[in-house]
Amino acid sequence: MNSFSAPKTPIRVAVTGAAGNIGYALLFRIASGHMFGADQPVALNLIEIEPGMAPLKGVAMELDDCAFPLLTEVVQTSDSSVGFKDVDWALLVGSVPRKKGMERADLLGINGKVFVGQGKAINDYAKPSVRVLVVGNPCNTNALIAMKSAPAIPNTQFFAMTRLDENRAKTQLAQKAGVPVAQVTELCVWGNHSPTMYPDFENAKINRSKATSVILDESWLRDTFVPTVGQRGKAIIEARGASSAASAANAVVDTVRDLLQPTRGDIHSVCVISNGEYGTPAGLITSLPIKVDGAGKWRVVGDIKLSDYAKTQIAASNEELLEERKVAFGQLGLSI
Ligand code: LMR
Repeated sequence: MNSFSAPKTPIRVAVTGAAGNIGYALLFRIASGHMFGADQPVALNLIEIEPGMAPLKGVAMELDDCAFPLLTEVVQTSDSSVGFKDVDWALLVGSVPRKKGMERADLLGINGKVFVGQGKAINDYAKPSVRVLVVGNPCNTNALIAMKSAPAIPNTQFFAMTRLDENRAKTQLAQKAGVPVAQVTELCVWGNHSPTMYPDFENAKINRSKATSVILDESWLRDTFVPTVGQRGKAIIEARGASSAASAANAVVDTVRDLLQPTRGDIHSVCVISNGEYGTPAGLITSLPIKVDGAGKWRVVGDIKLSDYAKTQIAASNEELLEERKVAFGQLGLSI
């Protein structure tokens, strides 16, 4: 006798900046099942600003032309009330890039306004269980602004992305040690997704041994590895003439997938709301080591030993986040 199981309800995913480079590398992986699984239908709400709507139409046509069996619907909109309606996930990829003559503070204010609007729309139109991952830079502070603008959504449902930095760091260590990247585990990137981030090589493992017992060159670890990871986004821009896109999209897939399934044998770097763990300032969205339990609930791993050197690096990155918050919240009239 054949047994039939009822089809699963589609997961509805909003993606902002959907016609941009990261969007173009991301949407096809969501629609093909890489993010939510090979038997999980998905509906895509593609959000763009008005000038992006024409290229977005082309992206939607290409999604049609893939005939993805899991893709049940594609919505194209520049209206946040439509784009975030009933979504399970909001992937906030779009943001205004820094242009010539712009100060970092200008960018915080300009993007801040966008994330206030998106946070409000998520608050009003998304499912209460929505989870929000911010990729658009400065992603930690943008996520904090969206979170503050969405008081009906629990703070624990807002995330910003440092998985790209974790992946970059793992590859740097693997290449130095001459091992496959899968042998590098327990590598947490702490702090801000900016050059001040701290990739913690002291607690990382290579083939289950301490990375520092495999790579003995401490000056390489401190003076080459740490800045290489921190500056990798800039190096990609210099080499490609454009910001990372496929690797960023890949890290979005990794982040969401690993927030949805129980963590086995590793930790992952995700920027989450801090409750003061490891001395990080409470109330910031900062990168911390995360594990997910069998019920799909994430927690900060609590038993990592940090050296004084690591603590200093992490504190400096969080100091930068405090400053970003001060500037952005000041410009936007938000209260801490
Ligand atoms: C990246 O890490 O590649 C992006 O966030 C781009 C940047 O500005 O670093």
